Amino acid sequence: MNQIAAGEVVDRPAAALKELLENSLDAGARSVSVELTEGGVRRMRVIDDGHGIEREDLPLALARFATSKIASLEDLERAATLGFRGEALASIGSVARLAIVTRRGEERHAWRIACEAGNLSAIEPAALASGTTVDVEDLYFNTPARRKFLKSEATEFARCDEAFARIALSRPAVAFGLSHNGRRVSHMPPQEPRARAAALLGDDFAGTAVEVRAESARLRLAGLAAAPGFTRPNRDAQYLYVNGRFVRDKVIAHALREAYADVLHHDRHPAYVLFLEIDPALVDVNVHPAKSEVRFRESNAVHQFVFHAVSRALALKMGTHPVSRGAEPAPPPSSSPRETGYVPVLNLQQPTVAYETMFATAVADERNALRSSEMPSASPALGYALAQLQGVYILAQNAAGLVIVDMHAAHERIVYESLKAQLDAAVLPSQPLLVPIAMTATPEEIEQAQSARSELESLGFDVAATGPRELLIRAVPTLLADLDSQGLLRSVLREMAEFGASRVLVERRNELLSTMACHAAIRANRALTIPEMNALLRQMEETERAGSCNHGRPTWVQFGMQELDRLFMRGR
Ligand SMILES: Nc1ncnc2c1ncn2[C@@H]1O[C@H](COP(=O)(O)OP(=O)(O)OP(=O)(O)O)[C@@H](O)[C@H]1O
Ligand SMILES: [Mg+2]
Repeated sequence: MNQIAAGEVVDRPAAALKELLENSLDAGARSVSVELTEGGVRRMRVIDDGHGIEREDLPLALARFATSKIASLEDLERAATLGFRGEALASIGSVARLAIVTRRGEERHAWRIACEAGNLSAIEPAALASGTTVDVEDLYFNTPARRKFLKSEATEFARCDEAFARIALSRPAVAFGLSHNGRRVSHMPPQEPRARAAALLGDDFAGTAVEVRAESARLRLAGLAAAPGFTRPNRDAQYLYVNGRFVRDKVIAHALREAYADVLHHDRHPAYVLFLEIDPALVDVNVHPAKSEVRFRESNAVHQFVFHAVSRALALKMGTHPVSRGAEPAPPPSSSPRETGYVPVLNLQQPTVAYETMFATAVADERNALRSSEMPSASPALGYALAQLQGVYILAQNAAGLVIVDMHAAHERIVYESLKAQLDAAVLPSQPLLVPIAMTATPEEIEQAQSARSELESLGFDVAATGPRELLIRAVPTLLADLDSQGLLRSVLREMAEFGASRVLVERRNELLSTMACHAAIRANRALTIPEMNALLRQMEETERAGSCNHGRPTWVQFGMQELDRLFMRGR
């Protein structure tokens, strides 16, 4: 058996674990538990309650290129299972001591087969209630070179834990357990997707993430995307699945970055758990030994679809959710002060939490109705202004309690969104150049410029090919006339070639608009009258993404009456 090739599929314990978990899912398991010893190197056991393997198929399961999952090349094109190569168990069996115990429903007992460094044992009767248990011991015992590449036990365990999380996140309806060196690390019953995300990524993500749900004729996207305030300094919390399989894909990553561009500071990264479903015939999953990359037949369409789906989900419009009377009060948000402390935690994700609790509780219960008796019954989401604080904040009262608004941040967002809307409605105005700019270009750039001529025009560019290696820029987008036109055109052409459409201009334009908005917005220390403040509150309710300013900071926070009561230790 070829141990070098095996190294590609199972280059470390985490890779072996991923393969075993995928096999359990392919076998229809409803419950999977994993027992690791010494980072998975010493021992790795995966126990499932799936459909098991027939006795006569056992040697085949361990043979290279034998799979029960596809029968023809056509099947490979539409592979709906996670496995399709028939390589994983053979690879693991060639670099470890492997044993499989399995029992199909109709059998009177289980069967066991073992494999050590590629040599199969005889098949023997064994005891097992149902399903399959795969036991892998002493990974790489016969390949010292590979063993040398392993990191510390803690590191290898952390990687296994991550592989486990990726799989567990993708199947919330399946129960999962994980233990390391005899200690239980995690145990998850069948759950709702949001509860599973909370178990693996934390309450602060799951409690505030917005739901993404979009469908077109051939694509479907569903999952959770972090609220703009919840960001990470790295890309760790980005989980993308294509047809149920975790992948890293640069087309989709780019679409997501763009969807967040407007609400995220540039050195922060969004967090998400997103599932893309696509006709298997339109995606090639066999491009990477660990199947962690895919190739889309029509990557442009996928890019557009994901970008729009996530942008829409993020552009939470305030005030459009009806306040239901008589609703059950929502449980306190996870960011609410701990029972022991009395200082409210004003963390960044509060606005979204506040939306949710506000809409759930709001005017619903009598107590609130009494307390806000001076307010009209149909109270707007952000309530009515009471006063201005130190020239910086607006204090307002709404059905849930006290609202504090950062006046400048809020106004900045309002101005910015309205500038964008005005421009989006029209074609970008174009400014002819007195002296056209000649620029040297690659044949690809020239080809792209010619085939996307009308699209370039709608962006405000007038570009013509004037030689085999020369483009002439005759007009540029008016708003961006002061920028480096050649550089701009190059990025636009590159993006068009790669992603089918370019948002470079829109992004540059938005950066400019954002600067303009910042200057145009009300500065601190400007006294506002109560009607002016109320007008601002009403505008916020009407504005998309009004929960955060252009840099992702919150524009307002909510203090519920319970939170205030707690501050004053009332009702204890
Ligand atoms: N936990 C399990 N329950 C039931 N059958 C299993 C299980 N694990 C493996 N098998 C069977 O063993 C075969 C070989 O598994 P293996 O992982 O090597 O290949 P595969 O899943 O078909 O393809 P890939 O190499 O892409 O994972 C599978 O096709 C399946 O029939
Ligand atoms: Mg497999």
